Amino acid sequence: METNAIYEGDNLEIMSKFPSESIDLIYADPPFFSNRQYEIIWNDGAEKRAFQDRWAGGIEHYTAWMEPRLRECHRLLKETGSFYLHCDWHANAHLRVLLDKIFGENNFRNEIVWKRKTGRGETQHKSNQFGVCVDYVLFYAKSKNSKFNTQFIPVSEADETYKEYLKKMFRHTDKKGRVFRVDNLASPSPRPNLTYDYKGYKPPANGWAISLEKMKKWDKEGRLYFPKNREGRIQRIRYLDEIKGQPIQNLWDDIRPISSQSDERQGYPTQKPVALLERIIKTSSNEGDVVLDPFCGCGTALVAAQKLGRKWIGIDVSPTACKLMHKRLQKEFKIKAHLVRGEVDINYVKKLPPFEFQNWVVVDKFLGKVSERKSGDMGIDGFTPQIMGGFPIQVKQSEDVGRNVVDNFETAIQRMKKKRGYIIAYSFGKGAYEEAARAKNQQGLEIVLRTVKELLEGKIEDDHQHHLPAEPR
Ligand SMILES: C[S@@+](CC[C@H](N)C(=O)[O-])C[C@H]1O[C@@H](n2cnc3c(N)ncnc32)[C@H](O)[C@@H]1O
Repeated sequence: METNAIYEGDNLEIMSKFPSESIDLIYADPPFFSNRQYEIIWNDGAEKRAFQDRWAGGIEHYTAWMEPRLRECHRLLKETGSFYLHCDWHANAHLRVLLDKIFGENNFRNEIVWKRKTGRGETQHKSNQFGVCVDYVLFYAKSKNSKFNTQFIPVSEADETYKEYLKKMFRHTDKKGRVFRVDNLASPSPRPNLTYDYKGYKPPANGWAISLEKMKKWDKEGRLYFPKNREGRIQRIRYLDEIKGQPIQNLWDDIRPISSQSDERQGYPTQKPVALLERIIKTSSNEGDVVLDPFCGCGTALVAAQKLGRKWIGIDVSPTACKLMHKRLQKEFKIKAHLVRGEVDINYVKKLPPFEFQNWVVVDKFLGKVSERKSGDMGIDGFTPQIMGGFPIQVKQSEDVGRNVVDNFETAIQRMKKKRGYIIAYSFGKGAYEEAARAKNQQGLEIVLRTVKELLEGKIEDDHQHHLPAEPR
């Protein structure tokens, strides 16, 4: 298992090859159980595609798909490890039941509620229910030995109720002007061995909470409060300036979602804020630990892990997402993550969904640009780089592409005033080749028909070679 690497492929298959108890922290943000249709709009604005979710089969369909993946996550975690599952109201209850089964009820730690919307105009508004403005993060530990570093909100940023509480509790000021409070030093349960007199003060009924050695140490450090009345109890002094802040609870309403203006915005529709991941990573791991995100999207968890000195592993089934996060890590940290890909063969290509197929052809193979989907684009899916002529490309995820496709393509490239263009498909019929030959003879148009097999064999480099500007002499 390689760390600081991005694995492209189905996480179930990839995780199954990793050794057990090798990961310190897993954050998983799977595709939600939702009936929404949403648009993917990549940051360069070059590609717009409708994404339909695949859970039309109902919640059982979804949980059945999730279960083996969650079991793999559990297997991979070290005994000291933690698991965070990001979800929304559609599935949180179902996933909680499933995780209780896999991790054990005792290892459930929290349901964190993250306020991801401000709840103004954009919140879904229906007349018969409240608006939804939160996501849930289910937090489980592998065992009772899991790591947990309490996080605090600095006093200056704490909420008003907490500030009022501090004001009420910290009522004393010492000679140096330090504000402090006094705290009980009595043991909550009977401790006969901690029942001793100190400087003439009597112990509480159950004894002290600390040993005589500690009492002496705190006395020397000026951390004990001796009441004037000898019948009173010694108490502990806590200084306000030593308070770390307000311990973070399970309501996270202080981390803002990614807005359209946000600097960290990658244009990935389900992108989460780095601050959210930083909080999770700081809480449940230490420097040098390994963080895994099996549904990595645009790599937010990897960015946060890298920032905090953790090792990381990202997995995503989308080649486009993998490329995007690779680019993001390079831009932010000047690091070249190792991109681990399965073999790119005909079976790999056949499994790609339509927009990934388009990206593979246009971006990976032609190094070109995908065209924006809009009416009047005449079915053109992309263009070769300007330096290679900016020629139109059309992709067809089908076999036996016929004469009419070539015919329509011919009209399109003529309107664009181009002399050359490419059609990519699994195979072409005889009519398609005849039509391309006719276009060449009669119109002087070069319509290159390339099969996926030819692309895989590097045929495209030959085409490019043909159109490279002449070498300067
Ligand atoms: C909600 S997004 C994750 C967003 C991410 N947290 C971020 O901040 O960018 C879910 C991701 O899971 C990926 N995915 C879906 N099925 C997968 C699978 N079987 N294996 C790996 N990744 C998968 C999708 O491609 C998508 O990028």
